[in-house]
Amino acid sequence: MSAEVQVRRSTANDIRVRKGGEPIVALTSYHAHTAHLLDEIVDFILVGDSLGMVMHGLETTLPVTLDMMILQGKAVMRGAQRALVVVDMPFGSYEESPEQAFRSAVRVMKETGCGAVKVEGGRRMAETIRFLVERGIPVMGHIGLTPQAFNTIGGFKVQGRDPHAAESIKADGEAVAEAGAFAIVVEAVVEPLAREITAMLPVPTIGIGASPACDGQILVLEDMLGLSARVPKFVRRFGNLAEGIREAVEAYAAAVRDRSFPAEENVYLPKGGTALPKD
Ligand code: KIV
Repeated sequence: MSAEVQVRRSTANDIRVRKGGEPIVALTSYHAHTAHLLDEIVDFILVGDSLGMVMHGLETTLPVTLDMMILQGKAVMRGAQRALVVVDMPFGSYEESPEQAFRSAVRVMKETGCGAVKVEGGRRMAETIRFLVERGIPVMGHIGLTPQAFNTIGGFKVQGRDPHAAESIKADGEAVAEAGAFAIVVEAVVEPLAREITAMLPVPTIGIGASPACDGQILVLEDMLGLSARVPKFVRRFGNLAEGIREAVEAYAAAVRDRSFPAEENVYLPKGGTALPKD
């Protein structure tokens, strides 16, 4: 008899009720194997459109398509059983109208099985967020630095330095929360402002380059593992996997070149066969 253990997957609501409680831990993942590793440890996994830059070497996230997000969303869902999986809506798949956003989000949710989507933008996206939430799609907001607005912002810049910009980001947070977002990513926003927004909003804020006062934190996995060549100031490298990979690949190359790999334990000898000949 098989003793199958049913694992309950976290939902958007499980994240929403964490407002003001123990910090919410989140990371990005684009693959089944990393999703599997994160699953036991984090509260939610974001299939970020940063995959365009991290996996594909693109300069920005703008060329990322809905099909790319769905492909990697499916992979992450296969790897993770426990954590809530949130999939980013890529540039061009939701901004035109609430109806366009609904069609795109339905594809994402039906084809990946994920529990929520994320959309970038503040007040301008409030109507769309409300439209999605009212139709059964949990939405995570994203304010402050919104990388899909790269061309209008003029680069990846810290947000909210002057009083006018700060008021505008606060109004964005209020509008997105009021529209029904269950949590809001606050990216590259000056620290006191991110703290103030967290205190002000009724839903959890998830900081990235924001404030330790945020209700949770998220980083791009490859950045915090030390795999990315250049990272913003807000990233702490919690590991140095690039070094580990380089050392392993160098050891492999040396073993192939001196024929010490494959060794006897790595080859299939005929039944009753003798050891590899020594030469
Ligand atoms: O695309 C992404 O990885 C993100 C996070 C950086 C929040 O949006």
